Amino acid sequence: MKNKIIVALDVDSAEEAALWAHRLKDKVGMFKIGKQLFTAAGPDIVRRVRSEGGEVFLDLKYHDIPNTVAAAAVEAVRLGASMFNVHASGGFEMMSKTAEAVRDEAERLDIKKPVLIAVTVLTSMNEEGLRETGVTVPLTEHVINLAKLAKKAGLDGVVASPHEIEAIKNACGSEFVVVTPGVRPTFASKDDQRRIMTPAEAVKKGADYLVIGRPITKADDPIEAVSLITEEICQE
Ligand code: C5P
Repeated sequence: MKNKIIVALDVDSAEEAALWAHRLKDKVGMFKIGKQLFTAAGPDIVRRVRSEGGEVFLDLKYHDIPNTVAAAAVEAVRLGASMFNVHASGGFEMMSKTAEAVRDEAERLDIKKPVLIAVTVLTSMNEEGLRETGVTVPLTEHVINLAKLAKKAGLDGVVASPHEIEAIKNACGSEFVVVTPGVRPTFASKDDQRRIMTPAEAVKKGADYLVIGRPITKADDPIEAVSLITEEICQE
């Protein structure tokens, strides 16, 4: 089984991030570098995690005019990200131009093309919040519409809540990658996550990757926590 676990490196220093990569690189699939760590440590942190032997999901959620996002995406390919994301609400042209630029740059460098995924609707949004931005269709319908648009634009998949996995796979096909945060192993606290699912449930529903932070990084024994999560997934 390919390793589905992506550890969220929600830390503020390169040293701490590199330490996590060093400890867990053989046990998880990828490390997620988001806006906090990237802003604190700069692009070098991607090279550093990679030099420790870890793969990187660069979670910067690009959203800008097509030319700007495509250019940033080319830099993400050059940095060596294995996966990164854009906001689907940036539109078809932004996504398709980016997908094309990513394919071209990976080919030029003769490296494996990174997995390019879209953020549909942030899970911090609810229906009322969407309406305030002028979106009047129901939230789930909007999520599915954006996932379909991402697929049409040539993206590989989406980030989604575990509760949206089945609807997305039904609409976009089983090959369309779904990366899901908001999972909590049976042994862990929920922290501030609300509509959670266990890793095993999410995988059963079709999740390709699980983004997990605190249940691993705040565990008394993080390596044991990863083993327990892997066992939970494998029992499915
Ligand atoms: O610590 P925890 O497992 O809750 O971390 C989950 C990670 O996934 C965090 O980096 C968080 O920002 C991210 N995330 C999330 N929910 C979303 C999108 C991203 O928890 N809907």
